Amino acid sequence: MVIQIKRVLSKKLHFRLNIATLIIITMIILAFYLIMTNKCYKKNNVNNKINKTKYRLLIVILTRPDGMKNRDAIRKTWLSDKNKNIKYLFAIGNLDVQQETKDTLKSEQDKFGDLLLLSKHQDHYGSLSLKILQAFKMIHADYDFDYLLKCDDDTFVLTSRLLNELDSWEDRGSKKEIYWGFFNGKAQVKRSGPWKEAGWNLCDYYLPYAVGGGYVLSYRLVEFIAMNADRLRLFNSEDVSVGLWLAPVANIERKHDVKFDTEYRSRGCSNSYIVTHKQSPENMQSLHDYYQSTGVLCSKEIRSRMSYNYNWTVPPSQCCHRQAGII
Ligand SMILES: *[C@@H]1O[C@H](CO)[C@@H](O)[C@H](O)[C@H]1NC(C)=O
Ligand SMILES: *[C@@H]1O[C@H](CO)[C@@H](O)[C@H](O)[C@H]1NC(C)=O
Repeated sequence: MVIQIKRVLSKKLHFRLNIATLIIITMIILAFYLIMTNKCYKKNNVNNKINKTKYRLLIVILTRPDGMKNRDAIRKTWLSDKNKNIKYLFAIGNLDVQQETKDTLKSEQDKFGDLLLLSKHQDHYGSLSLKILQAFKMIHADYDFDYLLKCDDDTFVLTSRLLNELDSWEDRGSKKEIYWGFFNGKAQVKRSGPWKEAGWNLCDYYLPYAVGGGYVLSYRLVEFIAMNADRLRLFNSEDVSVGLWLAPVANIERKHDVKFDTEYRSRGCSNSYIVTHKQSPENMQSLHDYYQSTGVLCSKEIRSRMSYNYNWTVPPSQCCHRQAGII
């Protein structure tokens, strides 16, 4: 009797031990599986960024092959301070340029190493949308960064203020992608003339876009454009194109900012400006010198055109009423 009880007990114990072993083994296998799949997932995901320095801000400046005077002005002024958080590149299409220009570009590249040469791109004004696509593709392939600033070679930027504003924007806890600049929502599509837009008949306007003298995109927006580059249609203007390409993207904040003086004509000079467009090399030098010595941008604040706050609650055709008193 006693022996029988002992046997039953030992059987039970044996059975329990078996179950326990089974559970432990299953858990080990499961953990191993999870670790491995996670590793592979991470590896695939990070591969694109291996061995790349991460920059806070990547600045891409569109410039023509013969725009060396402007490039030099920028190098000597607003990009003269070395900042390890910033990487800048001058994007130039050098397909079909004359041998002489090619040689000049080569020596410029040897000296400064800051040219993004787009060897498949023929540089002319009508091809800027294609140029920005190719630039984004190369930048996405070769660089890692948090934000990208696109500007022209006649744009002047206070980079430290731009970085500070990005920090504060992040500190506010937004989980959105940022598309930041001076927005226009009521650009009408031209039906005739040199800027005729053939085939854009989905609307009589374009879609709200940040004007091209300077705008900021967060990394994932650049990635979105770069990864879809071969499928996107090209509009006449590069800034209009970016606005349209980003229209279907979820979770994006379009931040209209009057501190971006980035229209096709400058609105003047305000000490609040972070970006100001249509500056000659001489203007850049005097803005830079004045800012260096006084800490403010303008020797005299001037308003030559009225500005507007963008109204996102009304249809885009009514978005942008210029009025006095706005910088
Ligand atoms: C990363 O850089 C190291 C050292 O420069 C090099 O040995 C390695 O092959 C690089 N890895 C990749 C994936 O390029
Ligand atoms: C936007 O327009 C609406 C309607 O006209 C107006 O009530 C509102 O105050 C405007 N908002 C801004 C920020 O201008």
